[in-house]
Amino acid sequence: MSQAKKLYIKTYGCQMNVYDSERMAEALGTSGYVTTDTPEDADMILLNTCHIREKAAEKVYSELGRLKVHKVENPEVKIGVAGCVAQAEGAEIMRRQPMVDLVVGPQSYHRLPELEARAGQGQKALDTDFPEEDKFEHLTARPKARRAPAAFLTVQEGCDKFCAFCVVPYTRGVEVSRPVGRIVTEARDLVERGVREITLLGQNVNAYHGVGNDGDDRTLAQLIAALEMVDGLERIRFTTSHPNDMQDDLIAAFGESDKLMPYLHLPVQSGSDKILKRMNRSHTAESYIRVIERIRAVRPDILLSGDFIVGFPEETDADFQATIDLIEQVNYGQAYSFKYSTRPGTPAAERAQVEDAVANARLQQLQALITKQQRALQEAMVGRDVSVLVERKGRLDGQMLGKSQYLHAVHINDSSAGIGDIVKVRITSSSTNSLAAIEN
Ligand code: 5AD
Ligand code: SF4
Repeated sequence: MSQAKKLYIKTYGCQMNVYDSERMAEALGTSGYVTTDTPEDADMILLNTCHIREKAAEKVYSELGRLKVHKVENPEVKIGVAGCVAQAEGAEIMRRQPMVDLVVGPQSYHRLPELEARAGQGQKALDTDFPEEDKFEHLTARPKARRAPAAFLTVQEGCDKFCAFCVVPYTRGVEVSRPVGRIVTEARDLVERGVREITLLGQNVNAYHGVGNDGDDRTLAQLIAALEMVDGLERIRFTTSHPNDMQDDLIAAFGESDKLMPYLHLPVQSGSDKILKRMNRSHTAESYIRVIERIRAVRPDILLSGDFIVGFPEETDADFQATIDLIEQVNYGQAYSFKYSTRPGTPAAERAQVEDAVANARLQQLQALITKQQRALQEAMVGRDVSVLVERKGRLDGQMLGKSQYLHAVHINDSSAGIGDIVKVRITSSSTNSLAAIEN
């Protein structure tokens, strides 16, 4: 009897990589692999990598350094690099770390079984193509295993915006939207396996324009409307959006849809029009604020999240102050902020850099403000009733953990709820990163 081979995948970076890792595990399932949580047992170790900032890419090379030691002791184990570092660096990875057996980009991982077979014969296997065929089409044989109640589903990939700092258009390629029918089928399949909340993923998700069953293109709002019809799917979210693609029908959906959750991640990057222009963002601080106002008009309780870059080339104190002013005006429930990181090959990489100490100080100031806003909004939840999708058991007896409609992590004490239930609770207190609640 042949024993199943074991696959360990380490995922870096964004939610799309989490989704891709699941698909890679399924693809390699057809080659006889089952996943394991312990790299020491694995017959194949796959790093699904992120290239968005320099630190993310460097982490991969240090992990490969550690894996080299492991491979010396276990020469049979296959080491693979997938994701955006694989796409950006390609064969360079094998030159820097010759013990790597396999390199596969984000658009060609449906070819993993073939690459794995080549690696099994002792060849170096590399595929960083942007193939003609649709990888999702080739990823059909899905095991019907039970799933956690909240899942990701990629609906759109790639980006045509070319922000001056960003590698995504180079690593993920041009914008491509999956057809509505395929997405609905995948959503139904997820629901059958226990999923109640789906987050639709795309690098530029609100530019979605997938084809409908009649051959005409659909907007993201129309896709959401189609998914609302899926019985048993209770919650829909989407990420990440660009301010310029927040169309009227999508904004209206926040007011009309019962299943679309009141949470929106809408990166602005900077509050200075000069910097936004140099970033090639094609929106202004003002136009971003107008979008937020329109969304709040239909959904006043929406929780807003954003992305910020500080220390972008030529950012002055006044430019940074404009970002602080914008944050004050918007009032975020949470946000991600980054110090500008030079990415070779992007337009901004050639420009004069802001001094590191200055960028660090700005990042700290910005993060302190976001934390203050986040805490205040969490505090304001105390005493309010929210609905929570229960995702797992807590550490304490009778405690269950889940997410509110606003994506707050909530601990429900003395709960009788099961995993996958959506329960009405009252918030009793707020701590650093979560809320506590009791069932109503
Ligand atoms: N440096 C710093 N942050 C970056 N981001 C993208 N590229 C860079 C870079 N070169 C941030 C942006 C984006 C998020 C996913 O990562 O804020 O929205
Ligand atoms: Fe990168 Fe987002 Fe700009 Fe596209 S819109 S280039 S993914 S930051």
